[in-house]
Amino acid sequence: MKKQITLIKGDGIGPEITRQAIKVLGAVASTFQHDFKYTEVDMGARAIEKHGVPITDEGLEACANSDAVLLGAIGDPKFDNDPTIKVRPEQGLLKLRKTLGLHSNIRPIKTYDEIIESSPLKKHLLDNVDFVIYRELIGGIYFGDKVLSEDEKKAYDLCEYTTDQIERITRKAFEGAQRRKKKVTLVDKANVLETSRLWRKTVREIAKDYQDVKLDYLFVDNAAMQIIQAPESFDVILTENMFGDILSDLASVITGSIGMLPSASVGEENALFEPIHGSYPQAEGLDIANPMAMILSVAMMLDYFDLTAEAAKVREAVEWALAKGYVTKDLKMNDPIGCERVGEIISLYIESEEELIINSRNTEQSMGVLI
Ligand code: IPM
Ligand code: MG
Repeated sequence: MKKQITLIKGDGIGPEITRQAIKVLGAVASTFQHDFKYTEVDMGARAIEKHGVPITDEGLEACANSDAVLLGAIGDPKFDNDPTIKVRPEQGLLKLRKTLGLHSNIRPIKTYDEIIESSPLKKHLLDNVDFVIYRELIGGIYFGDKVLSEDEKKAYDLCEYTTDQIERITRKAFEGAQRRKKKVTLVDKANVLETSRLWRKTVREIAKDYQDVKLDYLFVDNAAMQIIQAPESFDVILTENMFGDILSDLASVITGSIGMLPSASVGEENALFEPIHGSYPQAEGLDIANPMAMILSVAMMLDYFDLTAEAAKVREAVEWALAKGYVTKDLKMNDPIGCERVGEIISLYIESEEELIINSRNTEQSMGVLI
């Protein structure tokens, strides 16, 4: 299969983790006989330095014309603490999401037995945790009018939703639930917000088309508590843009490292895949960043291309690396390996699983031979 992929390496650790994604895609291409071609587009702080804008119109067009976009991470602390700055790295991502119509952001949260010790939660809470957040991505308070009064003493951000916007993500969430444990939890603040009441009404109507899926509701404050206290009780969480942003960072804590969580943002014609973590500027160039969230984002992209065996192989390779302890220091303080090595080992496993397993058995004590 031939695919044209736009790569956005971005800022901080973005370029290093994207390199690992390319290695993994190279291994998939050679093992399964595919042809992946790449175009590079600048976005984020580096794009601002180079072009004066966080993404250029040509960049947007290249993304729109490719089969998928793969993004490392963007953001730079020098923009974070100065509210007067007008051009920000994140504007590139928001513009890209909006231009490509990426309305549904899908963030799977899963625990892995091998790294359960890394989770700050008690072990008994972590059995069978496997849920997905469906976050509406191009509406709500992120995209409503933003106004600062002339005297700069008052500001507002408008939170607005239409039933059409609610419907398209809701259908995706219900279809997702049908392939899983058949439960959707709508998270909102319907006891306070008009938009949330519109969500409830609309979702309840649409749910009638999915009789095999159970629908329940939680207020967002309560949901934040339940995600920590009873994470195994969730299957699909459906929610609006801002709540989804906050809850997905919260949920990432369960797994043990935000460096493990991939995401997909899909629209009618385009899709973008990225880890949910940020650009981790403190780690730039140190070879300590965990590339697994990025590699698992590659798996989500392969699924989107309907290359399900290939996606399964990538996930198997990640789980194998976890089981063998070939992980970065966020998951293992003693004897971690670097970002580049993790990418290499996972790629090697995809290319030559048999050989590597034999090798690793013989070299359990001395990883040097293997890596
Ligand atoms: C995310 C990020 C973005 C968001 C930022 C970088 C604009 O936090 O993808 O969760 O808020 O959507
Ligand atoms: Mg976020």
